[in-house]
Amino acid sequence: MVDSRKAENLIPFSLRDLPEPGDIRNQPVMMTCEHHGKWKRQETMDGQVISPDCPQCIQDRRMATDLGRAAIPPRYQHRSLETYQVEGPGQKQALEVCQTYAGNIKRTLAEGQNMLLIGSVGTGKTHLACGVARRFLESGHTALYVRTAELISMVRETWRPDSKKTERRVMRELTDPDLLVIDEVGVQANTENEQQILFNVINGRNEQMRPVILISNLDAEGIKKVLGERSSDRIRECCRVVQFNWQSWRGKA
Ligand SMILES: Nc1ncnc2c1ncn2[C@@H]1O[C@H](COP(=O)(O)OP(=O)(O)OP(=O)(O)O)[C@@H](O)[C@H]1O
Ligand SMILES: [Mg+2]
Ligand SMILES: [Zn+2]
Repeated sequence: MVDSRKAENLIPFSLRDLPEPGDIRNQPVMMTCEHHGKWKRQETMDGQVISPDCPQCIQDRRMATDLGRAAIPPRYQHRSLETYQVEGPGQKQALEVCQTYAGNIKRTLAEGQNMLLIGSVGTGKTHLACGVARRFLESGHTALYVRTAELISMVRETWRPDSKKTERRVMRELTDPDLLVIDEVGVQANTENEQQILFNVINGRNEQMRPVILISNLDAEGIKKVLGERSSDRIRECCRVVQFNWQSWRGKA
């Protein structure tokens, strides 16, 4: 009978140390990404690639998916707090408030802080709100962007007999995200029924202390009219109001 241990011991040391095909090669291959420069590609001994793409590109793609899931409009998917330019004291303050809001997401969530971005057209309200939503996504939180008219039709569509979604499900979609941005408040027809839908969403989030960013061209008084007393009271409970009253950025040379 052959002693297997003995037989093993007969194999020369160097041979036993030979790597298996699936082992990871110690020396990664240096690669260059046209966007992000040098990165290291790991391969197994038989040449299978473990990390096939530039890690920054992978992260960017993941971000793009998150931005899509958050329904950030394509125009604003590349807008961020970093790309918001400050040319005057108003923009400086607006940016600072948004930076603080997004800079301590834990506190924003714990306190259920809301924001009201109001003022004239083209001043960067949607840009900054999308920038804040982006920060939420970057830190692993969830966010959703919706225009008021869209929000209302999302709920109304569920009332049709052939609707695939229930109203409850849509309500959950609107109340579950850590952050909800409701843009273009005041553009809708503003019937009592629309007020009720908005109230259900705002109240549902308020009860769970989930923050809302409301955006409008109306002033605070106008918003109160559009939302109704009950909704605006809930929004105001813990709310930073930021006024945007400078020239439009659109059409700037
Ligand atoms: N300070 C800024 N720095 C860089 N880009 C800006 C700035 N302000 C606005 N923009 C850009 O100008 C365009 C208009 O801004 P945005 O859509 O955010 O305005 P708004 O306040 O939401 O306007 P509206 O009330 O008409 O919806 C966007 O493309 C935005 O990225
Ligand atoms: Mg806008
Ligand atoms: Zn890359």
